[in-house]
Amino acid sequence: MSGDTLPTATGLLVIGAGPGGYVAAIRAAQLGEDVVLVDEDALGGTCLNHGCIPSKALLSATGRVDDVLDAEQMGIYADPFVNVSELVDWKDGVVDRLTGGVGQLCRGAGVRFQRGTASFVDEHTARVEHDDGTAELEFENAIVATGSRPIEVPGFDFGDEPVMDSRRALSPSDIPDRLVVIGAGYIGLELAFVYARLGTAVVVLEMLDEVLAGFDHELSAVVASAAREHDIEFALGERAVGWQTTGRGVVVETEAEDGTRSEWRGDRMLVAVGREPVTDTVGLGEAGVATTERGFVEVDEQCRTTTEHVYAVGDVAGEPMLAHKASHEGLLAAAAIADEPAAADLGPVPAVVFTEPEIGTVGLTPAEATDEGHETTVGTFPFQASGRALAAGKSEGFVRVVAEAGSGRILGGQVVGAEASELVAELTLAVRHDHTLEDILDTIHAHPTFSEAVMEAAADALGRGIHTPD
Ligand code: NAI
Repeated sequence: MSGDTLPTATGLLVIGAGPGGYVAAIRAAQLGEDVVLVDEDALGGTCLNHGCIPSKALLSATGRVDDVLDAEQMGIYADPFVNVSELVDWKDGVVDRLTGGVGQLCRGAGVRFQRGTASFVDEHTARVEHDDGTAELEFENAIVATGSRPIEVPGFDFGDEPVMDSRRALSPSDIPDRLVVIGAGYIGLELAFVYARLGTAVVVLEMLDEVLAGFDHELSAVVASAAREHDIEFALGERAVGWQTTGRGVVVETEAEDGTRSEWRGDRMLVAVGREPVTDTVGLGEAGVATTERGFVEVDEQCRTTTEHVYAVGDVAGEPMLAHKASHEGLLAAAAIADEPAAADLGPVPAVVFTEPEIGTVGLTPAEATDEGHETTVGTFPFQASGRALAAGKSEGFVRVVAEAGSGRILGGQVVGAEASELVAELTLAVRHDHTLEDILDTIHAHPTFSEAVMEAAADALGRGIHTPD
């Protein structure tokens, strides 16, 4: 979908067609708004084209390699061979199907898509530069959904051949023998698993003393130890400060807090040290839209910016920079623009890391709940005691449920293990709607499933576990 005919005026202009922008555009059109959606790239934004979807495609594909090797414990032997260019073609096919689907949904809802770059000229006008020229577009309301881009480490220029950002790392032309990953966050770890499964020797350099520092240590420790079993090496407390080419690749230099310098060799590097909001391409100032000290667009609970009829959703509007948060904000903004009733706030935002095993979290950890003044009761259930997990050969990790003592109201949940990304949905519903431990325990969970572990963790918190090991 390269573009529809651009009108001179519209009810709603949405800038950015990622999961924040396109969802807002479709919803607003469903609610009767006249919508123009503009993006300089393909529909679907970073998530569909260069982020969540291609990374999950590569993670599932390479997970098959792991599964085959792991099947030896089940008496199954095979010797997987990966054809990288076919793998990348398959991944691109998945992306194309999804972006094509978004195009159909937009057309079906009556959203007009224009490929191009939109920037505000004033509070009610935008300039759209596209392949066939430049046009001015008047709008009544606008939504800024311009997303984020990777942060560069000083000296590590993404324009230099050996320095990859995640987008490039998701379309490898060959498999490096050695890869240096800078940053042990979401992207660094997910892609470390992809490359390690393809046979690359991966070293991850992280300036903090922990892997996945934003997550509870008990969860990240399970992933770190599984990563080490995959021969992923970690250099913690090491800040990447420079690099040079050598005859056979690159050498990355790190500095520890005490000033000690070390060198790490690789064929190339992946820099994944966080993302920053894209606020400099839209002419926010021309529309009177203010940003916060941290560089995000300033918004209220309905995603309204400092200019009342201009909204901002997704990564550009603040953390967490997660696609599902962006889409939900898109729904809130569309409802506000169409004067439709909507939820008063976003509610809890689950976070998932697609490592092996996965992490899924929502709401408060035990420590966070205590810090917020709650008296808590906590239940856990290890997958080692789950029949389904054992039968799947994936028994590492656990489910933990955090509840308010007395009332049993669920405050949060953490899962590390197989299917954590799915199990967190039940816990998110529970936190969002003030369900209690009793509510979960009183609900039959199908047997044998991973989801029984959530019920067992709730039972454990109530001191009524049947299968909880001592
Ligand atoms: P991140 O914020 O998760 O991790 C970056 C890491 O780099 C941090 O641990 C930081 O201490 C480290 N670092 C910074 N400078 C460094 C240096 N010079 N040397 C060594 N280490 C350094 O950022 P990441 O992985 O780039 O991901 C960006 C965002 O993308 C995430 O915050 C997340 O919102 C989103 N994302 C979400 C995914 C999911 O939902 N599964 C998957 C991938 C990305």
